Amino acid sequence: MTGSLRAAITGVGSAVPKRVVPNAEFEKTLDTSDEWITKRTGIKERRLVSEGETTATLAAEAGRKAMENAGITAGDLDLIICATVSPEMPMPSTACFIQEILGATDVPAFDISAACSGFVYGLSVASQFIETGKYKRILMIGADCLSQVADFTDRGSCILFGDGAGAVVLEPTSEPDKGVLYSVMHANGGGWDYIHVPAGGSRAPTTLETIDQKQHFVKMRGRDVYKFAVEKMQWLLGDCMEKCNITVDDVDMVVPHQVNIRIIESATEKYNFPMEKVFLNIDRMGNTSGASIPLALDEAVRQGKIGPGSTVMFVAFGAGLTWAGAVVKM
Ligand code: UT7
Repeated sequence: MTGSLRAAITGVGSAVPKRVVPNAEFEKTLDTSDEWITKRTGIKERRLVSEGETTATLAAEAGRKAMENAGITAGDLDLIICATVSPEMPMPSTACFIQEILGATDVPAFDISAACSGFVYGLSVASQFIETGKYKRILMIGADCLSQVADFTDRGSCILFGDGAGAVVLEPTSEPDKGVLYSVMHANGGGWDYIHVPAGGSRAPTTLETIDQKQHFVKMRGRDVYKFAVEKMQWLLGDCMEKCNITVDDVDMVVPHQVNIRIIESATEKYNFPMEKVFLNIDRMGNTSGASIPLALDEAVRQGKIGPGSTVMFVAFGAGLTWAGAVVKM
């Protein structure tokens, strides 16, 4: 029986910080403009954490809403996974903080570190636990607060990031053609320096010097990431359709990593995806890293753009370098 099980998304939820930061805010401190940011990225504003809001608090709120949506409680959970690269603390895992906030006593909890691909990596990992029959109810969360590791003097990167969290509940289904139909993960560690935080780990432990040299902030080779992102997003779209034997007509919605409107348009144009089939909230959320896809998914569901029976494609890429995709029938 377990051989025919798939992981179905039975609940979705999200949480964003209260504080809205429009592009104009950056004009006060950086040589940039609302016009440049809007034209080059598609971002108009983003949400950034303030007092009392952290990766774990946003993640737990998103998780709570996803559980409510699925009609389950913390006591029903078998596993909590959090995809993040801006954890509550370096140790322990953010998933353990979430478990504690939700009151999911004794439920196993761990983090996945795959940056902006983290949620799709997590979806793939979580699906395996469901397909094998090991677990029945998994809370899979993507949460990041990259504002906490962004260099607000670097106009080439800080304008991109937003904070937030998105979550799904995964449960087994034996209905044919429902749930996670396909998932794929890839990495190329040779590109580690495309996006990285140099210090604070074993290679460069924290010293006064590393702090002074801003080595605890995100360093990014924006143009190189751009090229990699277009290439991999195109590849993922093609691979997902080929492996599931579907065409653009069969896909109801692509939920891409909300990275840059130009990257998304370049990638989806290759297959002539009409933009009505590409869900976007980058204008209001910016790039929320691991939260980006589940946050967009939750919005699309609440707007009625994705519903029961919808065929949805997730495509993501990020630091690592990592890239990952999935096809889900809701
Ligand atoms: O989840 C993955 C995270 N990483 C990303 O999403 C990054 C992907 N890359 C991008 O989104 C784009 O490469 C950026 C938005 C980062 C940059 O846009 P671009 O069109 O690739 O610009 P560019 O790096 O080629 O720079 C063009 C010019 C440069 O000036 P010069 O050398 O031509 O005088 C930059 O210094 O734009 C300048 N520039 C800016 N100007 C105003 C870079 N950032 C800004 C800014 N405001 N914020």
